[in-house]
Amino acid sequence: MRKFPENFFWGAAASAPQTEGAALIDGKSPSTWDYWFEKEPERFFNQVGPKDTSNVYYQYKEDVQLMQDMSLNSYRTSISWTRLLPDGKTVNQSAVDYYRAYFTELKAKGVEPIMNLFHFDMPMWLMEKGGWENRESVDAFAFYADTAFTLFGDIVKKWATFNEPMVHIECGYLGDAHYPGVHDYKRAIQVGFHTVMAHAKAVAAFRQNKHNDGEISCILNLSPVYAKSQDEKDQEARRLADLLLIRSLLDPIVLGSFPEELIALYKETDLLPEMVEGDLEIIANNKIDFLGVNYYQPLRVQHQDNPNLETITPGTYFKGYDWPEKRINPHRGWEIYPEGIYDISMRIKNDYGNLPWFISENGMGVEGEEKFIDEQGIVQDDYRIEFIEDHLQFLHQSIEEGSNCFGYHLWTFVDCWSWLNAYKNRYGFYRIDLDDNFKRYPKQSSFWMKDVIERNAIN
Ligand code: BG6
Repeated sequence: MRKFPENFFWGAAASAPQTEGAALIDGKSPSTWDYWFEKEPERFFNQVGPKDTSNVYYQYKEDVQLMQDMSLNSYRTSISWTRLLPDGKTVNQSAVDYYRAYFTELKAKGVEPIMNLFHFDMPMWLMEKGGWENRESVDAFAFYADTAFTLFGDIVKKWATFNEPMVHIECGYLGDAHYPGVHDYKRAIQVGFHTVMAHAKAVAAFRQNKHNDGEISCILNLSPVYAKSQDEKDQEARRLADLLLIRSLLDPIVLGSFPEELIALYKETDLLPEMVEGDLEIIANNKIDFLGVNYYQPLRVQHQDNPNLETITPGTYFKGYDWPEKRINPHRGWEIYPEGIYDISMRIKNDYGNLPWFISENGMGVEGEEKFIDEQGIVQDDYRIEFIEDHLQFLHQSIEEGSNCFGYHLWTFVDCWSWLNAYKNRYGFYRIDLDDNFKRYPKQSSFWMKDVIERNAIN
């Protein structure tokens, strides 16, 4: 039996825009997702939109009870910026009532709330002014963060500023999975810089806010990068992928400064973002207390021939490759590589001061999961149990070797809506029946996990 440390955080993760529902109800103003769905519903899987996320706004009590029944001791979700501050300035009392009741309920049932502030849900009023491209977004976010600390700091003791900021940068400005879906590396880098500044100013507000005595973090997707070969060129591709996709955010957020190689590269390619005097000092003075790490699959890269410096993208420096020994999740197509969790763990220990951290997301998406429902209505998700157990083994090994990991959260508790993919891939411990008022049914993995939590151990 492999025991986990005492008081280990066992839980699950989600976000407001993916679970609340009640879009545009009780004073909430539109985020880019509400707007986009209205404009182009055909982009969304089965044309299911933000109104039909997991209905948590109305069913949170039931969910919290299920969490307690499963013995979860922690849960991460987010606050919706456009629900709390519909115009960016005025507090919406219905939102305050809802979140206070929800967080109090979690606490009362022994589930520690970890509250994140931004999970890809840019307010539309701010997007109309340029979103993260506009410097105004930095102070707008810091104001929102400070408001949340004041209103909920007596209940919530663990906070996060952003979830996977690399995703809104990449998917919105180098791809088209997020609004506005443009392809422009220079704009993407500016968006990235403003995001880091918004994070640092929110941390600064947190340190000054008298209404809370908690700890603050940021949640990053840290897919470890592996090179195709030991060849010098492939190794260089690996180094560049890691620099652009991992260290560009991890270093300023944890160490307080951008890597020198990154600044040199941006100068060389005329991509340095616009900064205001004093910005780097603010970043240096506002490091996090703990880190959230989302891990699904690694990134495998090889050298890219003929880099095109005119239409520069991260892919200019490296390209992906298919590892022949890859173990694949056949229901989602993503690689399964539990060893990756060990490598991340050791890296935080060795290169990032052994900062306290937790797995804030790990999980297995399954398309067409209804085919695994048995006569009792239970999804027989042995594949998910195997996935979690394999990852926990490597996590456990790293803790044995001194990693400062304090928790593991599965994505997600109840099946949730996932942006353009809507309900295509199911991830939850609980299935949601969309044809029957979002009714919740346990999956086999929820029984297995309850046992792991109660023993605080895996076999
Ligand atoms: C995570 C995000 O990276 O991936 C979630 O934080 C998202 O917001 C999840 O829902 C799963 O994505 P998908 O595309 O498989 O549904």
